[in-house]
Amino acid sequence: MKGIVLAGGRGSRLYPITQGVSKQLLPVYDKPMIYYPVSVLMLAGITDIEIISTPEDLPAFRRLLGDGGHLGLRLTYATQDEPRGLADAFLVSADHIDGEPVALVLGDNIFHGPSLGATLTGAAHDITGCVLFGYPVRDPERYGVAELDDAGRLVGLQEKPADPPSNVAVTGLYLYDRDVVGIAAGLKPSERGELEITDVNRTYLERGAAHIELLGRGYAWLDTGTHDSLVDAAQYVQVLEHRQGTRIACLEEIAWRKGYIDRESCYLLGRAQHTSPYGQYVMRLAAA
Ligand code: DAU
Repeated sequence: MKGIVLAGGRGSRLYPITQGVSKQLLPVYDKPMIYYPVSVLMLAGITDIEIISTPEDLPAFRRLLGDGGHLGLRLTYATQDEPRGLADAFLVSADHIDGEPVALVLGDNIFHGPSLGATLTGAAHDITGCVLFGYPVRDPERYGVAELDDAGRLVGLQEKPADPPSNVAVTGLYLYDRDVVGIAAGLKPSERGELEITDVNRTYLERGAAHIELLGRGYAWLDTGTHDSLVDAAQYVQVLEHRQGTRIACLEEIAWRKGYIDRESCYLLGRAQHTSPYGQYVMRLAAA
């Protein structure tokens, strides 16, 4: 399965911060925001990943993550000239997807929870249709919202409805079979002029091929859309990392634990950052 991280857009809700830097490069406590969605793909066993961003911001992502070889990944980069919508990612990355199933994760979405890797690997295995991940929230009207029947089956999807049919938000992590590029190519832009991911998902739903997995209470799906929620997300990461002495979304650690790189390479990646506690953590881990 291929992976895509969509990390473009204007980030205008975070102005003036994002006038000078891409939202997805902002720190969430001890690492750049994009580390979190990249870690999700890595945990799902996906190593061939394309990062999409604006022409202005793409060089900074490339500087940060390179070709991914040091993490045992293959990273490529693609430009989205204008924010034409989340579903535009499949058209921008059609060559990268190359007819395979694909996972799309939004570059500003942070997931954390028990056995996330196993949950994703299970959902991605032999996929037909699409798999969405639902999460109960207090303010569903801000998101894509899933309507479920009494048996928990997905029966409807709406984008930011004024009157939400449930409190289950559709998170920014989506798994698709090989039909997704064709479906995206056939979409018409919405009223706000974007190719909507919810319209892709609705097409699968109409075919009877859309599934949803609910991420329950043990999971955190954190918002980074406002100044306050960005601070909250950083504090969540800080509290857990301090308490447990481990790091969330440490790419070097995940690469080593998943077998993408060996212990020595992991150590050297830590040593190259030894002036920061993050680098020291990676060194300690690999030396243990
Ligand atoms: O976070 C989950 C939500 O993401 C879903 O529940 C919604 O169904 C989905 O539409 C989306 O809603 P948002 O309002 O969060 O979408 P937004 O326009 O903010 O874009 C999400 C991220 O994708 C953001 O970091 C910017 C980036 N983006 C967005 C667009 C429209 C791009 O890179 N290119 C784009 O064209």
